[in-house]
Amino acid sequence: MKAVVFDRYGDASVLAVRDIPAPATDASQVQVRVRAAALNPKDLLVRKGKFKLFTGSRFPLGVGYDFSGEVIGGSKFEKGTTVYGMLNGWFGRTLAEEVVCPANECAAMPELTFTEAAAIPLAALTALQALRDLGRLQPGQTVCINGASGGVGVYAVQIAKALGAQVTTLSSARNLELCRSLGADETLDYAQDKPFNRSNGFDVFFDVFGNLSLAKIRNSLKPHGTYVDTVPSRQIIWDSLRTSLGWSKRARLVVVRSRSTDLDLLSQWVTEGKLRPVVDQIFRLDQTAEAEKYLETKRARGKVVIEIN
Ligand SMILES: NC(=O)c1ccc[n+]([C@@H]2O[C@H](COP(=O)([O-])OP(=O)(O)OC[C@H]3O[C@@H](n4cnc5c(N)ncnc54)[C@H](OP(=O)(O)O)[C@@H]3O)[C@@H](O)[C@H]2O)c1
Repeated sequence: MKAVVFDRYGDASVLAVRDIPAPATDASQVQVRVRAAALNPKDLLVRKGKFKLFTGSRFPLGVGYDFSGEVIGGSKFEKGTTVYGMLNGWFGRTLAEEVVCPANECAAMPELTFTEAAAIPLAALTALQALRDLGRLQPGQTVCINGASGGVGVYAVQIAKALGAQVTTLSSARNLELCRSLGADETLDYAQDKPFNRSNGFDVFFDVFGNLSLAKIRNSLKPHGTYVDTVPSRQIIWDSLRTSLGWSKRARLVVVRSRSTDLDLLSQWVTEGKLRPVVDQIFRLDQTAEAEKYLETKRARGKVVIEIN
């Protein structure tokens, strides 16, 4: 089967489409003919060797954690069922004609195209787990989302609304309208307006872009508010540890996990019209290097998707 692989860590030029053996499977897993796969910043970090400690030095390595496609094997779904999902772990492999996936890392697809469905899993699961599980966001509460127009942000805005919150977004001026269209109640341009000292501010501050800190936004948090970060650093690990001991304002780091029950909830929201995929650009498998270079600009509005025919 055709797959995107790389034989050494480096810039996007190390990526190549090659014929590799189809993955081995057993009945407990789900074998999928992949139709579309989305890119995430994690793909870029792994390809650059930032997680070498976990990904090691056995090449070739594959690319991609998100996918949508049709079931061709395994006992959980009928053959031909359309599914979508996200792989846990460090080893990407969904930019390929076939993928084998643990049964609890995929779910039946909602009524969307393959391209739209592939744009959801990792980013929307991150937003869901950050807001619901770490932020414990409740109906009527307030949330500020920094980086609201990117892959995770576009889902964070919609999920916060689905959870019944009042949403403030931070983005560049060119993305204010996008944030509004996703349901944000207040849209701020981060170059003009930084609500970090707002009194009576937010119950949750979701720092999707990850360039802030608890110290920076602390004054804007309500007394029992939570700052949720996406980017691992010594600072957020220390802040999470010390605020887990009963301090009033908490800091937490989200580490997304794939779960079919959470994917089912996302599907339900899609069906109810509460969640829609946001696809910025679509590329072919042989354009993956170009697609990764685009994602690397940190200017994507929503998701970058690779179609696989
Ligand atoms: N820990 C986890 O489990 C987990 C899971 C998923 C993602 N992440 C991390 O979360 C981060 C965001 O992921 P993503 O998929 O959303 O990335 P992304 O799609 O590449 O984000 C692009 C967005 O970032 C915004 N941006 C650029 N500069 C900014 C700034 N200075 N302040 C605020 N926003 C800015 C851009 O909006 P403008 O053009 O409007 O500035 C753009 O829309 C990444 O670091 C990723 O590694 C972590």
